[in-house]
Order: sequence, then structure tokens, then C-alpha cells
Amino acid sequence: MRRLARRRLPRLAFDYLDGGAEDETTLKANRRAFENVALRPRALRDVSVRAQSIEILGQMWSSPFGIAPVGLAGLFWPHGDVAAARAAARAGVPYVLSTASSSTLEAVAQVGGNLWFQLYVIERGLADSLVDRALAAGYRHLVLTTDVPVSGRRERDLRNGFSLPMRWRLGTVWDVVRHPRWLLQMARHGAPQLANLAAAAATSGTQAQAALLQRRMDASFAWEDLRRLRRRWPHALWLKGILHADDARRACAEGVDGVIVSNHGGRQLDGAMASLDALPEVVEAAGGRPVLLDGGVRRGVDVVKAMASGARGVLMGRLPMYGLAAGGEAGVAAALELVRQDVDRTLALLGCDDVARLGPEWQIKLK
Ligand code: FNR
Repeated sequence: MRRLARRRLPRLAFDYLDGGAEDETTLKANRRAFENVALRPRALRDVSVRAQSIEILGQMWSSPFGIAPVGLAGLFWPHGDVAAARAAARAGVPYVLSTASSSTLEAVAQVGGNLWFQLYVIERGLADSLVDRALAAGYRHLVLTTDVPVSGRRERDLRNGFSLPMRWRLGTVWDVVRHPRWLLQMARHGAPQLANLAAAAATSGTQAQAALLQRRMDASFAWEDLRRLRRRWPHALWLKGILHADDARRACAEGVDGVIVSNHGGRQLDGAMASLDALPEVVEAAGGRPVLLDGGVRRGVDVVKAMASGARGVLMGRLPMYGLAAGGEAGVAAALELVRQDVDRTLALLGCDDVARLGPEWQIKLK
């Protein structure tokens, strides 16, 4: 899928999807952490029937994975958010829509399914209005991303002049021209916008769109502000970007419903620990509240390893987006189906008939 995505996308779009911050140390660490876990299969267990559905906060997931929020999905495929949300709904797994989506949250809500909304706080008034809109549109899970007080330095993007608005260079123009299928799609459907903010800027009169275009966040947003958000949002509230047990404990004390262990796929703080390494202590600190993990999941076996390390499920960012870039909704569906099959096969080979039984006894940590 990644190879197909690389072929179809111009370099500036592929690098935006594929790359990480600075030296990409954390991006690589996420993968290495999975490689450093070895599974311990058991013999002669009846695995003729295998189960991989899970229930989280009263919602059924057909498989223990969902799609993580990814901004500007319209760059990978026209109306990419809608396409990915449709594929997720068909697969019976959640789709987390980014604040920086290229379709409005209302348009994506039309798809139905298990819809979650991810919030960036660019400016508090705007955040409030996004939360109210998400509620009105029928979203029932809100994910506050905590690891973007400022934007990470993604050097591939800087080299490509990838920014909004674009800084066109001769090399970039040449690169785009060499991908006529992509260029034609973009020409037909228009360059992707930050649709949620375009609408909000028009009504609230803020400089919101300009701020998000430059990824200028409200870096003063802190625990006291979370308390306000908790009062405003009556349904499931998640914190994404947690890597420390104390933060997980504090989140639970503030009434958060679940925690997403994440380092933003290595796109923010380079040098941050791998999310899989942070998982066990966060699970313990969360005291029974659901903990999801994202970062580095590239196959079903990674889903199984994450669950054996205590995650109730995982989110995947790049994996389904490679599928989206390769073939739109059908590409995302194919990517999700591959992971579903992977999980099923891995369970059988492991001698485990249900993801609910996964735990530390199924693996050892090598380093
Ligand atoms: C992201 N991620 C992200 N997270 C978020 O909370 N809001 C966002 O708008 C985005 N945007 C975004 C764009 C792109 C292109 C990528 C690859 C990622 C982070 C994402 O939700 C998730 O944390 C990581 O992608 C997980 O790592 P993997 O699965 O990509 O390895």
C-alpha cells in the first residue's frame, strides 16, 4: 500500500504523509518497539473459531482498530475524509475525523457509522464552536490532541516547500506535473481546504483559518481548560498524546473517559519515546479506563502485540492513508481488510481464540 501511495502521489504529498519530525528518530522508534516484542505461541488450543470484535464505552468495534485523525486527507484523494469514513463504517470500525479535515464535520457525519471528532485548540472560542458543531452533528466521541502546543519541525515538508499556502518551487512543480492522475483529480475537485475552519471563520469572524494554516495553536491550553471542555462535552472524551503515567492519572481524575497513548506518529517531538514502550505504565495508571495506542502499527500482528501490552484497541494513521492514496475508498477498505485478516491469522497461529484473552503472558520484551 505504501509503495502504491508513493507511486501515485507527488513527493510533496507522499512526504507529508510518510514523514516525521526532525531526524525521524521517534518515527523509527515506534517501529522498533514493535520489533522488540516477541510473541509466545501456545500449542494445542482450539482456535477453529476466532473473535476479534471488542466493545469500548458501549460501542462495538468489528475489529480492534480504527482510523486515527489525519489532517488534509483531501490531499491523498478527493473528499478523502468521506472516503475513509465510508470504508471504516463498512468495516464496522471507528473513524476519527481531524479538526484539519478537508471536508466539513457535518459532511462526514452524513456517512454515519462510529464517528469520532478530534479537536485542536487553535483559539478557545473556535474550539467551543467546533465542539458544539460536533455535538449537533451527532459525534459521540471527542478526542483532544495534547501533543501539538506548537507544530513539530517536519523537515521533509520544509524541503518540499509544503505549506499552506504552498511555496512553489521549480522542483515541486516538476514533481506534480509528473503525477498527472493526481493532478487531474486535484484540478477537477479543487485543492483541499481546511473545511471546518473555513466555515467557522466565516461565522465567528476569527482569524482561525489563517492560524491553522500556519499550525498556530493555543499553547496555553492546560488542565484547567480541560475541565471546561469536560463540562461542555457530555459524551465520551479522550486525551490523545499521552506518554506518561502521571498524565493518565490526572486525565482520569479530571473525568476523561479514555486515553490514547501516542507520540503523533513521530511527527511532533522527535526524541519522544515509542508509544508501545509507554503503554504498560499508562494502562496501569488509567485504572481500568480504556487505553488505545497509535504509532507504528503496520500489520495485524502489531495490533495483537499492542493488545498483549494492555491496549484495548489501536488507531492507525498512515496505514489506511496509504490505502486512501492508492485507491480512495476501495483502497482504505482493502487496507482495513488486510489488517483484519492479519489479526485473525495471527490469533490462530498464536493459539489464542479471542483478542479479549490477549495479555502479557503472550509475549516477551526483547530489550
Ligand atoms: C496525523 N496525525 C494527526 N493527529 C491529530 O490528532 N490530528 C491531526 O490532524 C493529525 N494529522 C495527521 C496527518 C498525517 C499525515 C499523519 C500521518 C498523522 C497523527 C495521527 O492521528 C496518529 O497519531 C499517527 O498517525 C499514528 O501513527 P501511525 O499509525 O501513522 O504510525
